Amino acid sequence: MKTTFQSPFKSLELKRFPVRPRELLQAWDSADELLLVELSRADLIGKRIAIINDHFGALTLSLNSFDVTSYTDSFVSAKALACNRDLNQAVEDQGGSTTGRDLNANSLIHDLDQWSGVYDFVVIQLPKSNSFLEEILSSLTPHLRSSSKIICGGMIKYISKTSFELLEKYIGPTTTNLAQKKARLIFASFEKGPAALPEKVTLSVPPFDQPLVNASNLFSHGKLDIGTRFFLEHIPSGNFETILDLGCANGIIGMMAKRINPQAKLIFCDESYQAVQSARLNYEGAYSDEAQFVCTNCYENGISDSLDLVLCNPPFHQHNTVGDFIALQMFHDSFRTLKKGGVLRVIGNSHLGYALTLKRIFGNSTMVASNQKFVIFDAVKLF
Ligand SMILES: C[S@@+](CC[C@H](N)C(=O)[O-])C[C@H]1O[C@@H](n2cnc3c(N)ncnc32)[C@H](O)[C@@H]1O
Repeated sequence: MKTTFQSPFKSLELKRFPVRPRELLQAWDSADELLLVELSRADLIGKRIAIINDHFGALTLSLNSFDVTSYTDSFVSAKALACNRDLNQAVEDQGGSTTGRDLNANSLIHDLDQWSGVYDFVVIQLPKSNSFLEEILSSLTPHLRSSSKIICGGMIKYISKTSFELLEKYIGPTTTNLAQKKARLIFASFEKGPAALPEKVTLSVPPFDQPLVNASNLFSHGKLDIGTRFFLEHIPSGNFETILDLGCANGIIGMMAKRINPQAKLIFCDESYQAVQSARLNYEGAYSDEAQFVCTNCYENGISDSLDLVLCNPPFHQHNTVGDFIALQMFHDSFRTLKKGGVLRVIGNSHLGYALTLKRIFGNSTMVASNQKFVIFDAVKLF
């Protein structure tokens, strides 16, 4: 698999994160390439550039000799960027060339209220979620002026009409170019004024009295997912001291576990900063004891042999890459961090074949419930 990325600005070594043995996929896509070619035609000297949703660092590290602020909601992308920055630093230290300024904490942000000053260029890898794109665009409007240029890139199959509509609504006249290598750019020039952030979406989920915060980039943003609904009906009760909601999104699964097991200490983790923040707000609105909230990749730094129960509704994609590799790491991390006798309870679409995977890792798996679409399994750590 190719790891040398030739951007018009510099040559970079780029790896995906999490690092997988026998990785077949490269750490950039043609949308990254088109965006960088477009930017190489502009005069960027002395200009301020905002980069949004850089997946593995291709955009930020190509442009880091300019004045760059890079925003991501993804812990995994932030980690990829840091690992690739270090990798390229090590290459430079050996070869003597320089890739640019060191990216400091101020230039890597994961909260949309951390924009500061005015940006001349905004470079966006289009997110899958339109509600997230809407929040991103509205959060930027106070930080743009009439000469500010917005350039979005995306793979054609993921670009929707709504992306254009949102750019027209918040930014101004929007055009696109011809597709190349299955990707396309969308251009918008700022003609509007500062906009209010979209109304926050909340979900009402009985038996919880308070509406639950569900931030714009969260899984099933507009409504309770049907798999989650089924999982909520099958949360176990037992003598659990510590329960982990792994891939928590708004935290509803862990909150239900706390309701059924009031003695338990809860841990919530997700790779989305918005998710962890939503879970914290929701939990603290419903319970007065302290829980732990962790933004991390799967549960890779969790303490070994420390958990009694893990509840997990795994994702089946990273950015646009579909696969069970994250679920797999979540199962391995669960096995390592469960105490002997501890249980991992997992929900998945019936066709995903989690039973066999769990058997391979835990040596056992038992079906707890199923319906036409979903299956719930337990796997027990026996040794
Ligand atoms: C299918 S959703 C489940 C959300 C929630 N637990 C529920 O059941 O409604 C999967 C969650 O896993 C999170 N996720 C994706 N990749 C992850 C990773 N590498 N580490 C931790 N969480 C991840 C997503 O952000 C998402 O919130």
